Amino acid sequence: NIHLIEKPPQEHDALIATLPLEPVYERPFSIGHPLRLYKRVWMGEKMLRGTLVMQQCFKSRPTDIFLASFPKSGTTWLKAMIFSQCAPFMEVEFATGRMMNTHLPYFLLPDSITESSCRIVYVWRDPKDVLVSMWYFVQKILGGPDKIVTFYQFYEFFCQGVDTFGPIWNHILEYWEESRRRPEKILFLKYENILQEPVKYAKQLAHFIGCPFLEMEENQRVVEQIAELCSIKKLKDFNVNKDGDRVTSSMDVHISKGYFFRKCEAGDWKNHMTQEMVERLDTLIKEKFKGSGLQI
Ligand code: A3P
Repeated sequence: NIHLIEKPPQEHDALIATLPLEPVYERPFSIGHPLRLYKRVWMGEKMLRGTLVMQQCFKSRPTDIFLASFPKSGTTWLKAMIFSQCAPFMEVEFATGRMMNTHLPYFLLPDSITESSCRIVYVWRDPKDVLVSMWYFVQKILGGPDKIVTFYQFYEFFCQGVDTFGPIWNHILEYWEESRRRPEKILFLKYENILQEPVKYAKQLAHFIGCPFLEMEENQRVVEQIAELCSIKKLKDFNVNKDGDRVTSSMDVHISKGYFFRKCEAGDWKNHMTQEMVERLDTLIKEKFKGSGLQI
């Protein structure tokens, strides 16, 4: 609601114009908008403007569920799971609660989200697979493998943290630490674990968002059916998710919904990185995660 915005967006634009700009000439593959460094996060200008407005005026409801993630970590999948679990209760939930997703780091969420009793589901993934997934995604948007950027260049920027919502390690760590402090507020899930045991995590998710499965539903294998419905095989084939159905993203580029479904595997990085690249990125992440109790 525009009337809720206290400061006109021009003031945000003035602030944004003063922020460090990514080295665009060295990184010629930004999608839509160049990245700016705001506090300690790299973000596209348009998303940053939206974030600043949201911090001023967004009001959460106690029943809201936020799905938070670093891009390419399984957002689409979790969104489908949460949606199919809430669906039977939509007429109730719609009166009070909503499901929204965000790639914002924890520290940039509006106070209304962090300080209220609404809940956050966070999904993370091995950063090496995030990188590979992101590379394919960018290639699809920009048109054609290796035309704009090689995988190695992409890797270099990822390791430097110059990446939309990067660096990835801060993103994961901040949600992890907050989830340990407030487990009732943040459910912290790992993509690879859900791949291995989708039914177990579908149950955990349902419980966390306040729509636990009834014993009768479990006996009727409803959880298995939901896991199956949200599997890549099924999601990919829904007409709405096929190529040709295009959405305009917040980055001012057209992104086909089909781009959000690719291999859905753990470990595709093995097909893209040399041993040296793997070791360097693993060492970097291990160093960043040191002492946190978190492991790739
Ligand atoms: P890959 O490119 O490695 O296949 P996001 O939704 O956050 O953009 O993440 C996209 C990644 O999640 C892609 O990974 C995509 O294939 C995978 N994905 C999408 N739907 C999925 C599903 N139903 N099950 C498992 N993975 C899924």
